[in-house]
Amino acid sequence: MDKELDWSHLSFGYIPTDYNVRCYYRDGKWGDIEVSQSETIDLHIAATCLHYGQEIFEGLKAFRGKDGKVRVFRLEENARRIIESAKGIMMEPVPVELFTEMVKKVVKLNERFVPPYGSGASLYIRPLEIGISAQVGVKPAKEYLFLILVSPVGPYFKEGFKPTNICIMREFDRVAPKGTGRWKVGGNYAASLEAGEKAHSLGYSAVLYLDPKEKKYLDECGPANFFAIKDGKYITPASESILPSITNKSLMQLARDMGIEVEARHIPIDELADIDEAAACGTAAVASPVGEIDDLDTGVKYVVSKDGQPGPVTTALYNKLRAIQLGEEEDVHGWNTIID
Ligand code: PLP
Ligand code: COI
Repeated sequence: MDKELDWSHLSFGYIPTDYNVRCYYRDGKWGDIEVSQSETIDLHIAATCLHYGQEIFEGLKAFRGKDGKVRVFRLEENARRIIESAKGIMMEPVPVELFTEMVKKVVKLNERFVPPYGSGASLYIRPLEIGISAQVGVKPAKEYLFLILVSPVGPYFKEGFKPTNICIMREFDRVAPKGTGRWKVGGNYAASLEAGEKAHSLGYSAVLYLDPKEKKYLDECGPANFFAIKDGKYITPASESILPSITNKSLMQLARDMGIEVEARHIPIDELADIDEAAACGTAAVASPVGEIDDLDTGVKYVVSKDGQPGPVTTALYNKLRAIQLGEEEDVHGWNTIID
C-alpha cells in the first residue's frame, strides 16, 4: 500500500492486494498451491470458462477482532458449497482441505489488508474455479484452475445498515425453476445484470426475484437471500431456485437462539402486505434492511419500514452476527476459523 487505506469509507469493490493463491487440476489431480503477485491469468482461447460458462465462485469474509485476531467466518460451509456448485455444472470439486488451506494462506499473506477492528470493514475473500482446457464441443473441461483473491471491502449497499428500497419485476428471470440458481455460478449473475441495472436506474438497491415457475412466491434478491419478520417470526423463502445462503442459515440459528420461531417456506407475494420487517442477507449484504418493496407490474408498494429505520429484530440479529464475527461474543456454534 502506498498510502494507508481509508478503512472506514471503503465501498464494496476491488482493491489490489499483495498476493493471490492458485491451484491447477491437471492429469487427474490437484497440483501444488502457487502464490502469485500477478493480477492476471494466462488462458487458452478455447477454455470452457470462456465459451460455455464453466465458472463458479464463493464469497466469504475475514474480520479483525476486538482481540486483534483475524477470524474467517464459516470457512467450511463455503468449502462445502463450492463442491455442490462444481458438481452442478460438471467441474472438478475442490477438496475441503485444499479450499481451507488456500483460504488460510491467502488471508495470512495479505494480513495487512484485513481492516482494523472498529472500522466496519472486512477482507472479502473470493475463491473461484474455471474450466481451462480447450473444448469446442459442448463438454466439461478436463483441466481446472482454482484461485482465491481478496479485497478489503465496506458495505455492499452504500447506505450501510439503513433501509433501502427494492423492487419486483416480472419481465426478467435470473434462473430457471430447476436450473443453476441453487449454485453459485457466474452465469446467474450475468442473467441478473439487465434487471439489476434497470432497478438501480429507478433508484432501487436490488431486485427481489419471484419463483421463475409460477411467479407467485418470493425467491431471493440478485446478490442475497431475503427474510422478513412477521408476527414475531423469521420467515424466509424455501425454493429450489435460490442459493442456500450461509448468512441466512446463520441468522436462522441466531433467531432460534433468541427464541424466535423460524419458517423456511413458500412466501406468496401478497404476504408482503403483512410483514413488519425485511432484509436482504448475504456475505456482502450482511443483513441490509429493506424500507419498501415496490411491485413495478401491479403498482403495489409494500411499505415495510414506516419510520425509515431498521426494525428491532433485524437490528438485534445484525448486531449478534457482527459481534460473533468480531470476536466480541462467544462463538458458541464454532463458526469462526482463527488465522494464526
Ligand atoms: N443469494 C445470492 C444470489 C448470492 O449471490 C449470495 C451471496 O453470496 C447469497 C444469496 C448469500 O449467500 P451467503 O450468505 O452464503 O453469502
Ligand atoms: C457475496 O455475498 O459473497 C456475493 O457473492 C454477493 C455478490 C457480491 C455477488
